[in-house]
Amino acid sequence: MTYQNILVETRGEGAHRTGLVTLNRPKALNALNDALMDELGAALLAFDADDAIGCIVVAGSERAFAAGADISAMARLEYREVVLSGFITRNWETMLRVRKPVIAAVAGFALGGGCELAMMCDFIIAADSAKFGQPEIKIGIIPGAGGTQRLPRAVGKSKAMDMVLTGRMMDAAEAERAGLVSRIVPADRLLEEVLAVAEGICQLGLPSILTAKECVNRAFEGPLTEGMVYEREAFHRLFATEDQKEGMDAFLAKRKPDFRHR
Ligand code: CAA
Repeated sequence: MTYQNILVETRGEGAHRTGLVTLNRPKALNALNDALMDELGAALLAFDADDAIGCIVVAGSERAFAAGADISAMARLEYREVVLSGFITRNWETMLRVRKPVIAAVAGFALGGGCELAMMCDFIIAADSAKFGQPEIKIGIIPGAGGTQRLPRAVGKSKAMDMVLTGRMMDAAEAERAGLVSRIVPADRLLEEVLAVAEGICQLGLPSILTAKECVNRAFEGPLTEGMVYEREAFHRLFATEDQKEGMDAFLAKRKPDFRHR
């Protein structure tokens, strides 16, 4: 498939490499329109299905991860159209079907749908230049791609209300303090650092990586007791894998593990 709004490449070496998707509408600060979201969904599913890929990175430009859903494409939409087309639901949520880890590499603006897209990824590594916000309130709407639900889970009610009701931005340092991003790195080293993290994940056993992602996601979807039962069963299942034997034997023999992803 050829893409018009994203760049797609693989990085790294070895049995598992990193799939890198770069949002590429620089003139519109990577504003997210339907065509871009269709392409992103297709690229994510293709990497997820590719046995040579162990981890996926979604990046933007230096200036913007993404400045939100495309306002010019949305401005004249009517209620009937957004309902019938399944606006947002139809293509944005493809990300949630991806089983491999997805890391957001965020520099510059991550606003509105851009912030929501970053939050749909499994974790966010931010450049010190990153700015996060849900400014939808300023244009007469509310966040519509999960912002009112994922932001409070990430940063707590008070800060989420502050962000959603005022539309203000928070910088990378505040985002890290609040727990929205996992790490901050200097802007000129963002991609290099994120790819190094992804490369590390690629070298680990895929069965345990997929299981770990699914278990952490359960923490947000049900009561603690059910999450604990799910985690314990998943933990027990991993004792049926060769990677568990290899990982533990390697530790005891003081050597590097050679995971075969089975
Ligand atoms: N949609 C469409 N175009 C956008 C855009 C967006 N979300 N954000 C920026 N652009 C375009 C601008 O219109 C401008 O285009 P032209 O050069 O053709 O005029 C270009 O990108 C550069 O932007 P600015 O000139 O505005 O750059 P700036 O540095 O002065 O400001 C900014 C940067 C603060 C990010 C500002 O562009 C801005 O406020 N953007 C809108 C942010 C926003 O409201 N996002 C939420 C969208 S709604 C949403 O996302 C709904 C949802 O939950 C799913």
